[in-house]
Order: sequence, then C-alpha cells, then structure tokens
Amino acid sequence: MKVLAASAIAAVAVIIAARPKAYASGASLFAQNCAVCHQPNGHGLPGFYPPLADTVGAYVRTAAGRAYLVHVVSFGMTGAIMSHGVQYNGLMQSWSQLSDADLAAVLNHVLTDFNSRLLPAGFKPYTAAEVASLRARHLSLGQVHAERAMVLDASHGAGSIAPMRAH
Ligand code: HEC
Repeated sequence: MKVLAASAIAAVAVIIAARPKAYASGASLFAQNCAVCHQPNGHGLPGFYPPLADTVGAYVRTAAGRAYLVHVVSFGMTGAIMSHGVQYNGLMQSWSQLSDADLAAVLNHVLTDFNSRLLPAGFKPYTAAEVASLRARHLSLGQVHAERAMVLDASHGAGSIAPMRAH
C-alpha cells in the first residue's frame, strides 16, 4: 500500500516536471528564469547583473516607469546603466517567450517581494491585459536603454527614482 502511494506521488511529480511552461507562480518563474543572474534574493552581482531588489519598485510610481519595466523584460536591454551607484554595461536578452500572464506574475513577484518599501500607496499589480498592451509595439535593445534614461531624467528632482542614479 505504501509502495503504491509512493509511486502514485512519483507519477504526479513526473507529470508536473514534464510541463515546464506551466509556472505555479511568479516566484517559481523568477527562480527558473531570472535568479541565475539577478540572484535568488534579487540583489544581483555588483558590476555584472544589476539588483532588482530595493530599486525597480520606484519605477511603478510613474506611468512611463511602469511601461519601461514591462518593456525591459519583454524586449531586453543593452548599454551602460547605473544602479545604487554601481555601473553595469551588459546585455539582457528579451523574454518575449513569456506569456503576458507570466510576465505580469514575475514582475508582481519582484515588486511585492523585493521592493515593498518603494511601492507607491495604492500600488496596483500588473495584469496580463496591461502587459499585453504595453508590449504590443516592439522596441529594440537600444531603444529600451534610451527609455530607461528618459524615465530617470523625467523624475529628476522629484527624487522618486533615486536608487537607479549614481549616489
Ligand atoms: C543572463 C543574465 C540575466 C537574466 C537571466 C535576466 N537578466 Fe535582467 N538584466 C541582466 C543585465 C545584464 C541587465 C542590465 C543590462 C544593461 O546593462 O543594459 C538586466 C536588467 C534588468 C532590469 C532593469 C533594471 C534597472 O535598473 O532598470 C530588469 C527589471 C530585469 N533585468 C529583470 C529581469 C527579469 C524579470 C528576469 C527573468 C525573467 C531577468 N531580468 C533575467 C541580466 C539578466
């Protein structure tokens, strides 16, 4: 009886493992696709992979920043950036293979679990529909890099996106 139960559990485990695209949650999506570079705690590797923790939550304070965050994950980015006073000049591939719902889930995980201190009051999580409309028009890696700079410049003086600037 015990043996039967164990093999039934093993069979279920095999079925789950055979469906890599069916992510249980934003957290498992992050673990499988993002943690290798940005690290499981989202702190990144200084000089190589920028932190996502205690930084990107500030973007969702403006509509332009909210759009950038979807764009950078959808389309990737390359070019020099500063984050928490450290320079990065790498390349992130596009994650266009992630569905709108998966992209919303992974961003919501990064925001609510790694950036709770920076979120604006009344923060609304991304929905699949919002992601779909924001990623409808394709941007190149370089255009996303320019968009990041624009978002940071626009908030200059307001201090709202300070973590991403040199300081
Ligand atoms: C192979 C390594 C790698 C993986 C995997 C990766 N990234 Fe990145 N990511 C980078 C690099 C490098 C940059 C900075 C690119 C540059 O210097 O222009 C970056 C930048 C970012 C930024 C912009 C940060 C900022 O300060 O504006 C976000 C957001 C982001 N990644 C989210 C993700 C998410 C979500 C995933 C998983 C779906 C992911 N990344 C997977 C390497 C990676």
